Amino acid sequence: MCGIVGYVGEREALPIILKALKRIEYRGYDSCGVLVQNQGEMMGHKEVGAIDCLISSLSKSGYEGKIAIGHSRWATHGAPTVTNAHPHLDCNGEIAVVHNGIIENYQSIKEGVLCDCIFQSETDTEVIPHLINICLKSKLSPTELHSGELNAMQVKEAVKEALSYLRGSYAILVAVKGFDGLVAARKESPLIVGVGDREFFVASDVPAVLNQTNRIIFLEEEDLVVVEKDSIYIENGGSEVKREESLIEWTIEDAEKGGYEHFMLKEIHEEPKAIRDTLMGYLTEGRINLGLDFIVDAESILLVACGTSYYAALCGKYIIENLAKIPVRIEVASEFNYSDFVLDGSKVVAMAITQSGETADTLTALKKAKGYGCKTVAITNVLGSSATRLADETIYSRAGPEIGVAATKSFITQLTIFYLLGLFLSKMPASVFAEHINELKRMPQIAQRVLDEVNIQKHARYLSKYEHTFFVGRGINLPISLEGALKLKEISYIHAEGYAAGELKHGPFALLTEDTPVIAILTRDDIYEKTLGNVKEIKARGSPVIAIAEEDDEEVEKYVDDVIRVPRTSALFSPIPNTVALHLLAYWTAKERGCEIDKPRNLAKSVTVE
Ligand code: F6R
Repeated sequence: MCGIVGYVGEREALPIILKALKRIEYRGYDSCGVLVQNQGEMMGHKEVGAIDCLISSLSKSGYEGKIAIGHSRWATHGAPTVTNAHPHLDCNGEIAVVHNGIIENYQSIKEGVLCDCIFQSETDTEVIPHLINICLKSKLSPTELHSGELNAMQVKEAVKEALSYLRGSYAILVAVKGFDGLVAARKESPLIVGVGDREFFVASDVPAVLNQTNRIIFLEEEDLVVVEKDSIYIENGGSEVKREESLIEWTIEDAEKGGYEHFMLKEIHEEPKAIRDTLMGYLTEGRINLGLDFIVDAESILLVACGTSYYAALCGKYIIENLAKIPVRIEVASEFNYSDFVLDGSKVVAMAITQSGETADTLTALKKAKGYGCKTVAITNVLGSSATRLADETIYSRAGPEIGVAATKSFITQLTIFYLLGLFLSKMPASVFAEHINELKRMPQIAQRVLDEVNIQKHARYLSKYEHTFFVGRGINLPISLEGALKLKEISYIHAEGYAAGELKHGPFALLTEDTPVIAILTRDDIYEKTLGNVKEIKARGSPVIAIAEEDDEEVEKYVDDVIRVPRTSALFSPIPNTVALHLLAYWTAKERGCEIDKPRNLAKSVTVE
């Protein structure tokens, strides 16, 4: 995920910015850049690849100055290239901006108020310096314009006006020639200010500055900040506000995990944001634009994937068939590759689902699908990964880098993409479509409610004492029970089997005892009664049952031993809250058992061998 850093003070800024960028390398990035400001000069440099390349290119640059900004980019709009790397400048090279987040309406801004500007990059960010330039000019008298000096008020007001054009999320840092300070602002993207002695650091997260200061101001939603070496001014909603400093006592390692004990827990807590970011990328004013018009002609869809991504694909089949009524076939990539598959690819769109974009089996499957003449699409979280180079087109999920080996937020963004795809391909009446879009837009909140309201730890303590479990579900929640079982087994080492609830009686019943708890997803869908019937059969064999059920389902508790209650949604969207609950259950159970959660034994984040 992109990282931003800035410095204003009495020391040389460049070494401070480079060190800060090094400290947030763990977030993942594909390109980076800095800009140093020294009175009338703005000196910048950008690189594709490692911060170390930036450091070595700048070692003899002689860039001196007490103000600088820097950025590490995780590409979203436009490939990882030097031109797309930040900082981005206005047309005069006098206003520099680094940005995290997504500007949803950048295209309409380019075509509207900025229609006369020439853009260098493919990024959404580049509209920001151009907008600030226009706003600044409109506020200055000809004398002020030519004086070459700007004061904090002028720059702040120009930034504020520029922000009023933007829809989406941002944390930005702005350096302006002739102004001895920095302006920063945030909306739905984190930003902090580190307070030093006659100096300030601004950054997307605490580890960037923790070696310089532990006095941190956590900025709040829509704060606008001006820092000069001796002063800080924060405004919100047009009035000045005071924000308390916090004294941070985390170690650097704690800070990288945002205060969470493990990356996996941090990443589960990022699931609401990951859904929101993924939606923002493709959903504008109630319309879905995936940039893949050829898929509307598909007579059927073939999904290939491995592991967790395969379970997302299984869920995707339910979603697409329900919403778009297009037949979907799914194949485990490693099996598909060596099967005698019969396929006329001319009317089939093949989609490879792979968060890393590097899974060898999935890449081979993508090549095989191409060999059948299918049009191909990669659904991935990593821009520029091998899958994106192989496929005809790519849909990016926007989970941001995932460091825990177990896929969590990347899985939930894959589901989000399938909702978008299903709706994009659907031919339903406009009013029904609008209802679905509204429901989809509620999903970040729904996921957040699971995180805030559900007490999973009690259930995890209980589950942690057993060695064998079953996870059961039906319909659209069958893949989610498979995902719940996979997550539990890989990080807690408890043997967990995911099963269709109606299938246990065809064999696995033989394993059910009072030492085999069953986690049953009991969403009130069309087959709720049948699933409840299956649960009664399980109970009759002596297994304890924990249900995952909706908050207002009063019936369920009569038949099970305990209930994990999640917010109510329509059955179609229930995989979202159920997934968050199951990810938390796996995490807290593994934690109870003292497992090494972020790096489970024998597993790798990206499996590049067949
Ligand atoms: C499980 C997990 C794996 C991956 C699988 C495919 O938590 O992460 O099962 O889902 O190795 O990886 P990608 O999605 O990168 O192709």
